[in-house]
Amino acid sequence: MPGPMKVLLAVGGGIAAYKSAELARLLMQQGHEVQVVMTAAAEEFVRPLTFAALTGRKVLTNIFAIEAAIEHISVAQEHEILAIAPATADLMAKLAHGMADDFLTTLYLAFTGTVMIAPAMNVNMWQHAATQANLETLVKRGHVIVEPGSGYLACGMTGPGRLADPEAIAEAIERAGKKRRDLEGETVLITAGPTQEPLDPVRYISNRSSGKMGYALADAAATRGARVILISGPVHLAPPRGVEVIPVRTAVEMRTAVMEHLPAAGIVIKAAAVADFHLAKVPDQKVKKTAARVSLELDPTPDILAELGRKKGDFLLIGFAAETQNLAQEARRKLESKNCDMVVGNLVGGSDLGFETDDNEVVLISRQGDPIALPRASKRAIADRIFDEILKLRLTRHAADGR
Ligand code: PMT
Repeated sequence: MPGPMKVLLAVGGGIAAYKSAELARLLMQQGHEVQVVMTAAAEEFVRPLTFAALTGRKVLTNIFAIEAAIEHISVAQEHEILAIAPATADLMAKLAHGMADDFLTTLYLAFTGTVMIAPAMNVNMWQHAATQANLETLVKRGHVIVEPGSGYLACGMTGPGRLADPEAIAEAIERAGKKRRDLEGETVLITAGPTQEPLDPVRYISNRSSGKMGYALADAAATRGARVILISGPVHLAPPRGVEVIPVRTAVEMRTAVMEHLPAAGIVIKAAAVADFHLAKVPDQKVKKTAARVSLELDPTPDILAELGRKKGDFLLIGFAAETQNLAQEARRKLESKNCDMVVGNLVGGSDLGFETDDNEVVLISRQGDPIALPRASKRAIADRIFDEILKLRLTRHAADGR
């Protein structure tokens, strides 16, 4: 049990709104503080008084928004979970596109905690390409979706679209609450992005890494309560909220930053695509185009992961393996040769996964159990799954140490 949470229960305007009253009752019974927000359409189905009586709090509606112009900001800041049940097709579209024309949608944009969405609608509306595209956007944003159930719908049709049972939604809220705090007290050191290895003052060698995978890991760790130190090569991404970013350029600079911050870290994740070779002595001046052909003599860069593996103390060491073939075998080889606790195998080289993309598909290799294949999902969702497995490794290790 995550303990009592401050839950915002947002009720959309669908016939399933009556089930949210049962959800509010369940959450209250579990000891949570529940603040209900209703859209104007929801008020057509259930009266705010029902929720006020169940939660002992004034329900926030559009009228309320007019009375207190900036209330949505303080309400957003005071709560940990925003559970939207039922989420109608219209509401999902508004959320996906960032429209903010009423209290709930404005609150949503100001909210930084865990968002949970329990859709409910007619089967055709649910299956419509527009709704599915909006759903994909919301999933990619890292929101938790409580899938609708299948069965007889109020419209008389049968199929998926029925609001999940209030018990299932309450359980999902509990799980999300637990998840949010499970890295509290941890310091996670993450490397992300490419390195740039200069050839002269204006040219460099680099690679296709955008930093998205590493930044998604940093965001997941920070959201789950960790102190996050993100050592980042040159990327074009906004730093995740609450993360300490240390910008570096070259492999040598990345090594220095990693070693400097290592003593603080309990978990180290090397998602960066570090150049394997560099020009050991970079000319001071721009190289002139004098010869028809030039050849470069490159030296190996420091292998940061291998050095961490040799140092290996109490921290958990997670490496990545970007491979164009034999993914699982190569990842296992890196697990052994670099003395990691886990390696995330990432197939790269194709156009739609790995480098630069928003989605990824990886395999997790550790010394315990079989490889875990994580099917295609957003890098943010993959990041959360990676932390789930890291925490399991940590538990196994503590059990083995008798801690
Ligand atoms: O940044 P994105 O566009 O989101 O793409 C994500 C990604 C494909 C870059 C990422 O998921 C990934 O696979 N990162 C590792 C890339 C890589 O360099 O893999 P590698 O197999 O060459 O290296 C193995 C491991 O050794 C990596 O953890 C790497 O950080 C580390 N390494 C490599 C060389 C070096 N000199 N020092 C290192 O520490």
